[in-house]
Amino acid sequence: MVEFRNVSKVYPDGTTAVNDLNLEIGRGEFVVFIGPSGCGKTTSLKMINHLEPATSGSVVVNGQRVDQVDPVQLRRNIGYVIQEIGLMPHLTVGENIATVPHLLGWPRRKTRARTMELLELAGLDPAVYRHRLPSQLSGGQQQRIGVLRALAADPDVVLMDEPFGALDPITKGKLQSELLDLQRTVKKTIVFVTHDIDEALKLADRVVLMRRGRIEQMGTPDELQNAPVNEFVRTFIGEDRLSQISPEGPVDTLVEDAPLVVRPTESPTEVLEKLEELSRETAQIVDARGRWRGMVYLADLLGAERARRETIDGLGRSDRKLYASEATVRDAAELLVDLDSPVPVLDDRGALAGVITNGGIARLTVSRLTRGGATA
Ligand SMILES: Nc1ncnc2c1ncn2[C@@H]1O[C@H](COP(=O)(O)OP(=O)(O)O)[C@@H](O)[C@H]1O
Ligand SMILES: [Mg+2]
Repeated sequence: MVEFRNVSKVYPDGTTAVNDLNLEIGRGEFVVFIGPSGCGKTTSLKMINHLEPATSGSVVVNGQRVDQVDPVQLRRNIGYVIQEIGLMPHLTVGENIATVPHLLGWPRRKTRARTMELLELAGLDPAVYRHRLPSQLSGGQQQRIGVLRALAADPDVVLMDEPFGALDPITKGKLQSELLDLQRTVKKTIVFVTHDIDEALKLADRVVLMRRGRIEQMGTPDELQNAPVNEFVRTFIGEDRLSQISPEGPVDTLVEDAPLVVRPTESPTEVLEKLEELSRETAQIVDARGRWRGMVYLADLLGAERARRETIDGLGRSDRKLYASEATVRDAAELLVDLDSPVPVLDDRGALAGVITNGGIARLTVSRLTRGGATA
């Protein structure tokens, strides 16, 4: 159904995001891409619906190379769900779900019936929810609608990029279970991206574990857990992930996506508002060319706001950082013990790979302690 044949992706700035990927995904299969931040998951997904063209090799969907079909036609047959949901705020739930059927010119009656059917499948009473606006729904409900919208025109393939990444753990667990139930009915070919190993093991027929643009191992959740091919997989997947992380091991497994990335051209006030919304005290500054320009602290932003600085350019502190290619877990631990704020991790080109936080390490511990327990 979806096939990668020797697919590589090099971005214009020279970053190799995906390196000679070979993978065949069968009809009705639920495949989960997982791996550390920056390993090429999103890029791989976007090459399926040709949002990002491959630099070499070919991506084939339903027997056709994606660079040889009309992209509009292609995308109508491929549902897409992202973390940011992307519902149209001025359209009702019903209208949002009907987006693609509408574009396809379905008769009103057929569209309405399909909308009702999907809402019912997701356990949302159509009479109650169809006419609501997205702003009248909780985050979890909005993300359910995002999933239904992707399914509306009955696409062959559904792509999901960390769709539940922004939800609290309980809502997340519920939506995961619902998605599995839904999949039993609709039997789509699903390609799902996450960096949450518990999510991957719960959802996947097959897990594709990537690192630095390549597949490190793929197989069923059992295969990866029972027969990891190397130390990296063992650490990433292993039941005892945390206890097996060696102090001299690479920091990869600890790196998470930075919660807030801002541009040097933003004003102190804008950044302060974003920090407040996320209840954070630091943001990572990345310029238009993708280079990391330091980490900015709440206190410095408040000072800059009082001094009426127009932008945060130059406010980033860049002395405290690690390079993914050489840093060890011990290096990260030493920095975190000194100061309880995120440690930025850079790749060799100076781009931000992500951050390491005390919170992230605590979550690893908790998920290890609770694994096998209730999953909502
Ligand atoms: N538009 C872009 N231009 C340049 N580099 C990019 C672009 N998008 C992603 N990258 C880089 O490609 C690599 C893979 O990114 P991505 O596919 O987003 O990873 P993931 O989804 O696994 O976190 C990273 O090094 C990232 O910085
Ligand atoms: Mg991504």
